[in-house]
Amino acid sequence: MSKVNIIYWTGTGNTESMANLIAEGAKEKGADVNLINVSSASEADVKDADVVALGSPAMGAEVIEESEMEPFVESISGAVSGKKIALFGSYGWGDGEWMRSWVERMEGYGANLVNDGLIVNEAPEGESEEECKNLGKELASC
Ligand SMILES: Cc1cc2nc3c(=O)[nH]c(=O)nc-3n(C[C@H](O)[C@H](O)[C@H](O)COP(=O)(O)O)c2cc1C
Repeated sequence: MSKVNIIYWTGTGNTESMANLIAEGAKEKGADVNLINVSSASEADVKDADVVALGSPAMGAEVIEESEMEPFVESISGAVSGKKIALFGSYGWGDGEWMRSWVERMEGYGANLVNDGLIVNEAPEGESEEECKNLGKELASC
């Protein structure tokens, strides 16, 4: 059974809804899932998992959230080489630039990206809900 840790930041709950749906999909496929708010996450939560999903909305000007997610991502830069990592997050008005930069950054750290960054406009609904659940299912078999 694969161990999937989902570490996220959310301001208004949209990225958290994505995290919950990803967890639901992964659990459906029998994964051992932990949902962790980044405020209580540590490097051990990255090291201990078979696959880690990191979630942040687009904030600032097309960047990941700066007060908690940014320092966390920096802190795990030495721990993700070869690690299976998925990225996800919600956005408002942009074109997904924050996610493209984040994918590149994680690849630069040597992470083994299992998706190309799942982005959802505001709250997941309908098709995007399914996309989140499907990502979870995929992570369960990583
Ligand atoms: C301070 C702030 C900055 C934001 N910057 C961007 C941005 O650069 N690009 C974008 O597409 N959306 C931006 N947004 C919109 C959020 O990404 C969007 O509302 C998202 O759904 C919030 O996710 P959350 O509910 O998980 O916090 C910004 C929102 C806030 C509050």
